[in-house]
Amino acid sequence: MKVNGKNYRTVWMESSSVFLIEQNLLPFKFEIFESKCYKETCLSIKNMLVRGAGAIGTAAGFAMTQAFLQAPKDGFWEFVETAKKEIEATRPTAQNLFHATNLVFEAARNSDDPIKSAVETAQAVADKDAEDSHKIGEFGNELIQDGFRILTHCNAGWLAFTDFGTALSPIYLAHQTGKNIFVYVDETRPRGQGARLTAWELQNEGIPHLIIPDNAAAHLMQQGKIDLVIVGADRIAANGDVANKIGTLEKAICAREFGIPFYVAAPTSTFDESCPTGKDIPIEGRSSEEVLYQTGPDENGEMHKILVCSPGSDAFNPAFDVTPAKYITGIITEKGIIKNSIVRIIDN
Ligand code: MRU
Repeated sequence: MKVNGKNYRTVWMESSSVFLIEQNLLPFKFEIFESKCYKETCLSIKNMLVRGAGAIGTAAGFAMTQAFLQAPKDGFWEFVETAKKEIEATRPTAQNLFHATNLVFEAARNSDDPIKSAVETAQAVADKDAEDSHKIGEFGNELIQDGFRILTHCNAGWLAFTDFGTALSPIYLAHQTGKNIFVYVDETRPRGQGARLTAWELQNEGIPHLIIPDNAAAHLMQQGKIDLVIVGADRIAANGDVANKIGTLEKAICAREFGIPFYVAAPTSTFDESCPTGKDIPIEGRSSEEVLYQTGPDENGEMHKILVCSPGSDAFNPAFDVTPAKYITGIITEKGIIKNSIVRIIDN
């Protein structure tokens, strides 16, 4: 996608460096961070310079490649296997992370030229993400009618999924094909991925939108102001339960109450057959600091962290929740839309 007229991917690799858009600084500053080794890329994932399931996956694939490039001749595989474990320990919920590390590792292990295979496979993971995102846009666009008001949660745009996004991909295509649409953006506390990132993406694309407080969606639904909900996914269990940013479950329950279609957009690389149900999906707990403090720039553009809660109180900060399949109207994938909710409701 374009920023200031120049085409960018959220994360990319050149030679042995991984380059990524520093998402913690957005929307206030647009900076590219260069990570020169796999450990630095691990830290970038952990500290959310790069975030969102697909972008995490792409970064993890490139981090694996860096490990292959850095590995000494003696103890080559031991080095790479240790690195793989470190990369996989950065963020536990995003399935695309494991999808990418396993693909790169397996391709290299089965090759006469492991380094070359690692480089090619990591790039293929990134390119496949981009391809899948576009296809999700095409299928999802069919659900969007002219005049629709769409609610989205968190950021599942091109910053989260190379190169077009998942939940935002159908929205981009609807806009590009001339449909008159409006997007309500959940702010998505505590880190504000909606207020900061989704709003920034939509603004760049000239798509009309409003940021709403996280607790406003039910009110808007009740007033008949939302026609469709589309969210992303971090991991999808075999039974169709979906882990996504904390707060998604609440929106899904509300959408059901008010008869509003609730769609999840995610490629099949986000599906995890080894998790039978949502209960098996590991949910990342993040620092209480993210709830207690907010960051933003002063008038000189310097970023500051300020306390926004009662001093002395602690906070609990689960990063994701699981929406049972019965609340999901359909999952928009790169292969088509899986409409499983009716089956699930009968099953339950
Ligand atoms: O914690 P984050 O910002 O990495 O959260 C992941 C997400 O961006 C969302 O849950 C998103 O909706 C799905 S990822 C495309």
